Amino acid sequence: MTVETETKEKADPQFRADVLNGLKGPRRAIPARWLYDRRGSELFDDITRLPEYYPTRSETALLDMIADDLRRHIGAGGAVIEFGAGSVTKTPLLLRAVAPRAYVPIDISGDYLRSEAAGLKAEFPDLPIWTVEADFTAVVDLPHRTASLPKLGFFSGSTIGNFVPRSAVDLLRTMRQTLGEGAMLLIAFDRVKPLDVLIPAYDDAAGVTAAFNLNLLERINRELDGTIPISGFVHEAIWNDRESRIEMHLRARRDMEFAVCGRSFAMKAGESIHTENSHKFDLRSARTLLSAGGWTAKAEWSSADNGFSLILAQAMPVYDAPKSQD
Ligand code: AVI
Repeated sequence: MTVETETKEKADPQFRADVLNGLKGPRRAIPARWLYDRRGSELFDDITRLPEYYPTRSETALLDMIADDLRRHIGAGGAVIEFGAGSVTKTPLLLRAVAPRAYVPIDISGDYLRSEAAGLKAEFPDLPIWTVEADFTAVVDLPHRTASLPKLGFFSGSTIGNFVPRSAVDLLRTMRQTLGEGAMLLIAFDRVKPLDVLIPAYDDAAGVTAAFNLNLLERINRELDGTIPISGFVHEAIWNDRESRIEMHLRARRDMEFAVCGRSFAMKAGESIHTENSHKFDLRSARTLLSAGGWTAKAEWSSADNGFSLILAQAMPVYDAPKSQD
């Protein structure tokens, strides 16, 4: 008799906990960070090139347009600290605009960081690149060599919109602690816009966003011994006006029973698993979020159609306004 040993990749315990907890009804939800395994990251890359997905094009064009302004506001010779491995198009535009003394990308994926650093090294041979493999939702220890340099944080893509307001404020406060008082932050905000633009951006004709969303179920089946019938689910992007956000859901087409990590789950036709939020802003709501997170907006730029904005904010010393009775 031969005994087969399974060499299954060991699942992340946090992934296991989030999925088992998230699949319990009545409101099923799995944190969006789990969309990004290797396949999910490739699919997200494809999304950024879709004709319907405007944010990447809008932000790139905006960065290109405001390069001189950025240089004036920020000046050369500081350290650019990017939260999340950068984008091949956006990061070089910023680096060219502000001519920093060093570039410090922070990302949880070391592989991704190293390949990004190698690409940038070819384009900016004289720029020191100090990669930091870390989760930037917690305070990050920056390389000591940045201690004496003025710092500019860069948080692109309107990724801040993937956090519910409470977590977005926590993240902004954490970034303030990472960068220190006096630091600047250049942060992207996708704007509220008509639904005939928003919905296709998250439910494209070629079905790439659907594949990105459904890949989460494939990941669960692969890494957590799941038996989820993928064809039983359909990708859905809906606008939640009250929360000002696009929501991605995986909606059950029929009644289903399945198992994950040996635990049984049942879903009825029409029930959904909520997989992502993408909040959309106006300039006031963006500024309010920033100030709740300890940042003061100093300058802002918007694309010609006002569909996408970049805000330059500063971590000013804390000043508590007089209370109402004062
Ligand atoms: C990463 N993030 C800013 C994207 C967004 O637009 O919220 C993720 C995404 N989800 C579906 N399409 C793109």
